[in-house]
Amino acid sequence: EPTLMDKIVSLCKRRGFVFPASEIYGGIGNTYDYGPLGVELIRRVKEAWWGATVTEREDVVGLDSAIIQNPQTWITSGHVGGFTDPMVDCKKCKGRFRADKLEDARCPEKPSKRPGECDGELTEPREFNLMFKTTIGPVEETGSTAYLRPETAQGIFLNFKNVLESARAKPPFGIAQIGKSFRNEITPGNFVFRTREFEQAEMEFFVPPAEEQQWFDFWVKERFDWYVRHGIDPAKLRLRVHEDKELAHYSTATSDIEYEYPFGWGELEGIACRTDFDLKRHSEASGTDLLFFDPQTKEHYTPFVIEPAGGINRMALTFLIDAYEEQQLEKDTRVVLHLHPSIAPITVAVLPLVKKEGMPEKAREIGAMLRRARYSTSYDEKAAIGRRYRRQDEAGTPFCVTIDGETLTENTVTLRHRDSMEQERVPVAELRGRIDAAIEA
Ligand code: GAP
Repeated sequence: EPTLMDKIVSLCKRRGFVFPASEIYGGIGNTYDYGPLGVELIRRVKEAWWGATVTEREDVVGLDSAIIQNPQTWITSGHVGGFTDPMVDCKKCKGRFRADKLEDARCPEKPSKRPGECDGELTEPREFNLMFKTTIGPVEETGSTAYLRPETAQGIFLNFKNVLESARAKPPFGIAQIGKSFRNEITPGNFVFRTREFEQAEMEFFVPPAEEQQWFDFWVKERFDWYVRHGIDPAKLRLRVHEDKELAHYSTATSDIEYEYPFGWGELEGIACRTDFDLKRHSEASGTDLLFFDPQTKEHYTPFVIEPAGGINRMALTFLIDAYEEQQLEKDTRVVLHLHPSIAPITVAVLPLVKKEGMPEKAREIGAMLRRARYSTSYDEKAAIGRRYRRQDEAGTPFCVTIDGETLTENTVTLRHRDSMEQERVPVAELRGRIDAAIEA
């Protein structure tokens, strides 16, 4: 009997959300490509995040910094020295495990067993640095080592002064960035939940030190509410405060927004107090003052940082899992993704009832009108209308617009709603207003 995760992975492949990367060469293990529906889903998640974090706020601006920075960045940030996970090896089956997560791990040789239970011996734990190394220039020589960023955050700290001056910013204000990060994870897995290459959505919010707590509370609530506004079941979300021993090297307090995945509760996003750790360290190491001058108090100070940091791919996976339902109907089972209309890859499907009597032409006309208005649409004239609705349900399309005989005479269509399966007659002129109201999050 396939598990829920098996079903999600199979739906993702079948419908073109997510494919295993390098599949024709046998894959590359825990690496994935996003297909036509997946890329739209990822785009929606990013737009929803950017909209709420940057566009709708007057105190946050965006940035897009390089993946490969001066390697000194990662020495100063503490990642070269401290961005490690403890690793153990099994001497028999060669399995590699995180020493601090042994209870969750399984032996690759005997998957029903724990690490070491294949009669192998586990090595002592040793610290393994998670950063990917590369070399700059045509020859590998000393001094040419560089790193792929393991977080987008550092690019923001390096540009603190540039943004402060060019955007005339003043704390409290934030700098947001979405982009790829890379970590040589010891145990990637659970589909796109943990991979070695992934996209992060991070925001460094710079505040006067005295306002740290108030802004931390603000962003924890704001980020939690964002997931709920975009359709995640609040009963499956919880906040978890980090214990001292699990805090990252730069943080004095962190709260995770966790989701109850089919494989257990897991981190969806973390909100951290990073204090003045990063700006101070970069100031000292670079000799460039990363201070804010407050013209009112005539004081120079290093702002404190509140950082909401989430993973775009993990968010997309969470939206998919949360949206998935198999509904027992009278005659059969319906697979439906209840994605929020703001997140769904296709917003509206345009379907001529039959492939004749001018209906396809009229459907194409309405489809073109909707595409011009920037809705993501899909046109489908193959198979019986019921089957076409089901295909859209499985892709998470919230609206189907059906063009029939009456459309030609009355200029009205059938608007079918994914979740209730209800159908109503709507004038073509009212379509956009109806869809817009639903997309609003
Ligand atoms: N700048 C802070 C930072 O990077 P993090 O908790 O290590 O914090 C933030 O990462 C988020 O990035 C996580 O909550 C998760 O959503 C995502 N993330 C981290 N590692 C990941 C991985 N290997 N694969 C997919 N997403 C990952």
